[in-house]
Amino acid sequence: MKVRILSGVQSSGRLHWGNYFGAIHQHIALQDERDAERFYFIADYHALTTVQDAARMRGLVREAAIDYLALGLDPARSTFFRQSDVPEVQELAWLLATVTGMGLLERAHSYKDKVAKGIKPSVGLFYYPVLMAADILAYKSTLVPVGEDQVQHIEMTQDMAGYFNATYGTQVFVRPEARLSASPRVPGVDGEKMSKSYGNTIDLQADEKELKKAIMGIKTDSTPVEDPKDPAKDTVFTLYALFASPAEREALAARYRAGGMGYGEAKKLLLEKAIEHFAPYRRRRAELLASPAEVDAVLREGAARARDVARATLQEARVACGLA
Ligand code: TRP
Repeated sequence: MKVRILSGVQSSGRLHWGNYFGAIHQHIALQDERDAERFYFIADYHALTTVQDAARMRGLVREAAIDYLALGLDPARSTFFRQSDVPEVQELAWLLATVTGMGLLERAHSYKDKVAKGIKPSVGLFYYPVLMAADILAYKSTLVPVGEDQVQHIEMTQDMAGYFNATYGTQVFVRPEARLSASPRVPGVDGEKMSKSYGNTIDLQADEKELKKAIMGIKTDSTPVEDPKDPAKDTVFTLYALFASPAEREALAARYRAGGMGYGEAKKLLLEKAIEHFAPYRRRRAELLASPAEVDAVLREGAARARDVARATLQEARVACGLA
């Protein structure tokens, strides 16, 4: 069967290195895979669980779209759209909700984690995995590239697809598989997982001055300059390794182990790498900021393509359960 890749990114804040290396980088790399179709979307319905201000929502969706395009998303190879431009997924979510037990959702880690972090425990937040399942199943996706924190949601999607198919004796829904990104752990400036809610991010949009400030502020241990250092335990090295070639990585690791190099020097190398790596992104981003009509056109065409697929799946599901 044809490989159909799908993933969503929540537009709930500015994108940072964690989003990039954890997910976006992989989405873009998957564009080189032939014999696969790709659907990528901005999950604005999901973002409503935390962003409840219209102007801010519009701004974040636009920024996410521009960032994706500037980072290399190619609308000729990927269908790129806004989740809420395909309202069919909402109806599909309802059809899934009625065959899904409360117990499945009650086991969701992400719900508990988010509530523990102070996000309002709305019905929508609880229902979130059902909508995500609908996103995935609407496009009959077979492969869902995500970060580790989303794997349980994919397993729940497999369950929901199975419940619906079993309940109605149908094969409407295709079982999706998760694919973990190659570099799932991206530490923030304090060494913890990089996350907006921990306030330890380095943002993609950071200019050179902001980048320098963030990188120079990365927490390191107090090993003296002369002493050997363990690269595996250092945040600066871990981040450098995300950008570097294997040979460059090995060269820096050797200097860590030899001693005589301070963390300040490693930070300078990381800064140079980051500036170089994101230079094309920054250029393209400036162009797209200046041509909003181009961005709108991409999202409009993406939505039309996505909607055709979702509408057909919804129709099959409606027939299966006797609504049509
Ligand atoms: N929940 C995902 C996140 O926060 C975003 C998302 C929504 C998604 N729907 C999806 C990801 C469907 C993959 C597939 O990262």
